Amino acid sequence: MKERIEQIRNEVLAFLVDEKAGVEKFRLEFISKKGKISELFEGIKSVTAGDRKELGKVLNELKQLAESKFKELQESIESKSNHDLTDFDLTLPTIPNKTGSHHPLNLTRYRIIEIFERLGFNVEDGPEIEDDWHNFTALNFPENHPAREMQDTFFIEKNPDILLRTHTSNVQIRLMKDRKPPFRAIMPGRVYRNEAISARAHCFFHQVEGLYVDKNVGFSDLKQTLYHFAKEMFGKDTKIRLRPSYFPFTEPSAEIDISCLICHGKGCNVCKYSGWVEIAGSGIVHPNVLRHCGIDPEEYTGFAFGMGIERITMLRHSINDLRLFSENDIRFLKQFKSVY
Ligand code: PHE
Repeated sequence: MKERIEQIRNEVLAFLVDEKAGVEKFRLEFISKKGKISELFEGIKSVTAGDRKELGKVLNELKQLAESKFKELQESIESKSNHDLTDFDLTLPTIPNKTGSHHPLNLTRYRIIEIFERLGFNVEDGPEIEDDWHNFTALNFPENHPAREMQDTFFIEKNPDILLRTHTSNVQIRLMKDRKPPFRAIMPGRVYRNEAISARAHCFFHQVEGLYVDKNVGFSDLKQTLYHFAKEMFGKDTKIRLRPSYFPFTEPSAEIDISCLICHGKGCNVCKYSGWVEIAGSGIVHPNVLRHCGIDPEEYTGFAFGMGIERITMLRHSINDLRLFSENDIRFLKQFKSVY
């Protein structure tokens, strides 16, 4: 009997496991009710009463030994499987995460805002559904003046006084009427014109209006501001050119061209072989506009400009069809940055 106990003790000590199933095997073999140690306890009943006491003691020790080994085995397997879970190669590339991207028009808008904010301009907003006064009259468009026809307006059928704004210049008016000068603001937003949709025209597009009104603001300020903007936006080698133009709300007025980004002035089909592309309309705020907003033109002067976000985006990314911006074709959109 003693030898049998010793043999099982050795078996217990030598038992090795390297997986969960092995721990269960150990339990069944040694400590379950039908295991070898229970068997020994059964066997002890048939030895003489004198031996029983000593054997009982040895057997109890064996039982304890087996139980503590069982615990140990359980713990070691557990920590091994935990270890396996963290045993990753952290340097392996992950499965690429599919994220969306910024709309190219937003990327241009963010950049324009960034440039002007650094010059002390703040960002203002105004309504897309507007009345005639804010979109035309206050901007010095005389009633029945052909200048109104320059901008193919969408009117609201039941009330011709209400329209979809044709430009962001309405926000100039709202700003100057509601607050006191000086003003230094840019006003990005969507505008609408009743035009047939093609690669070069759309019934809605986006503009950024700029307004700077203070004492002694002159044409040189306008020129320097837009010169700085063009270099920041399109690169330091960009040249700008001002061409005389006409807008009812500015006098004098100028159209702003930049040297063509595609051919750098040599001539190509984007600049129609002129070497220049137009990016904005601008001018000195007409005294009538200031008067309409309750500002004394003898005391304050200012400049304004308006540029098309689509046009600038098309130049930045060599995009040749305006319709791409509103079709939401994922193959087009995913080519732009997902992080700004
Ligand atoms: N509102 C003009 C347009 O839509 C642009 C402009 C804005 C011109 C401000 C001069 C000054 O064409």
